Amino acid sequence: MGPVEIKRDVYWVGALDWNIRDFHGYSTPNGTTYNAYLVMDEKIALFDTVKKPFKNDLIDCIGKIIDPGRIDYLVVNHVEMDHSGAVPDIVELVRPEKVVCSPMGKKALIDHYGRQDWPYHVVETGQTLKLGKKTVSFLETRMLHWPDSMMSYIPEDKLLLSSDGFGQHWATSQRFDDEVDASRLFGHAAKYYANILLLFSPLVRKLITKVVEMGLDIDMIAPDHGLIWRKDPGGIIQAYQKWSAQESGRKAVVIYDTMWQATESMAKAVGEGLKSEGLDFKLFNLKLNHRSDIMTEVLDSRALVLGSPTINNGMMPTMADLLSYMKGLRPTGKVGAAFGSYGWSGEAVKLISEAMRGMDIDLVGEGIRVKYSPQKEDLDRCVELGRQVARAALGQEAGGLPAKAGS
Ligand code: FEO
Repeated sequence: MGPVEIKRDVYWVGALDWNIRDFHGYSTPNGTTYNAYLVMDEKIALFDTVKKPFKNDLIDCIGKIIDPGRIDYLVVNHVEMDHSGAVPDIVELVRPEKVVCSPMGKKALIDHYGRQDWPYHVVETGQTLKLGKKTVSFLETRMLHWPDSMMSYIPEDKLLLSSDGFGQHWATSQRFDDEVDASRLFGHAAKYYANILLLFSPLVRKLITKVVEMGLDIDMIAPDHGLIWRKDPGGIIQAYQKWSAQESGRKAVVIYDTMWQATESMAKAVGEGLKSEGLDFKLFNLKLNHRSDIMTEVLDSRALVLGSPTINNGMMPTMADLLSYMKGLRPTGKVGAAFGSYGWSGEAVKLISEAMRGMDIDLVGEGIRVKYSPQKEDLDRCVELGRQVARAALGQEAGGLPAKAGS
């Protein structure tokens, strides 16, 4: 795709990756983009590069504006290789006067590419670089997404080049938020937040506070993935405020795996109980839903009810996978319970409950185990479990403590 002018003399020069389907465990059924930006001024600056296999897309795109050899500064906002993979080739081709990066960025570039000899120009929060008419102000954003991460702000254009922040994994031929369906766009942004940034929520909140304190006047946010926010950048900032506060809706998710549909029957009964107390719910069979889509639903759910039959004295591998993934992403403020069928040993419910407690999920009890196939009275107990979870979740909404109840 050719360059797109996003502000006067500022161009998107990135690459579209229509075919990527997995991004370190995150499913990307709609691909992604690697956004790079070229700023034309007395000094010409390239902000970030692309994943290495796309280096020719980047070079060709820049070549439609200028000879890439004219680039003066290469700004590396983030060293993860989806953005820095083409840095060695670009440095070789361009021979930039400066490779601009954060202090941690310099270390990370050397650790990745072993090049002590590049013309590093290390910048910290608040430092600026004059390009001519335009100025670049830097803001370190450690752990958003890596220790090296930083954002670049161009006050003359009210433009924030936000690196991984505010991105989405969504390959489109459109480049701006107002050119696509808003609900799909925010859906992709929510999935990105839930699967990449959720664990860094306290830092996101600090960052937003810092941006407010610094008085940055922003009318466009250009991330390194997906669409550029030009119509309503405040909308995605508000969404980040909500997601980073881990605000939840009146919603629960019931997540389960099943061998012979016993645990599935229990899941449906739990859902019935949730709904009967006024809590909406969604049911996810782990064999049919990707962990990253489930995490997107977890993001704004108040209650999690997890079920697995016992297999080989443990839980189903799909449930272990989900719990491991979810633990790393650190959702907070949830209530929940566990359930599952078993044949003779029945450890799964206890193990799931322990894992949920380890994530500070408030459990309403010790969960429900059913031997082999649930009978009517077993399903009634599952309905009651759903009711208990719903009451605890809605009680939390009212400011009360979750009810503790056995089962
Ligand atoms: Fe898009 Fe953390 O890299």
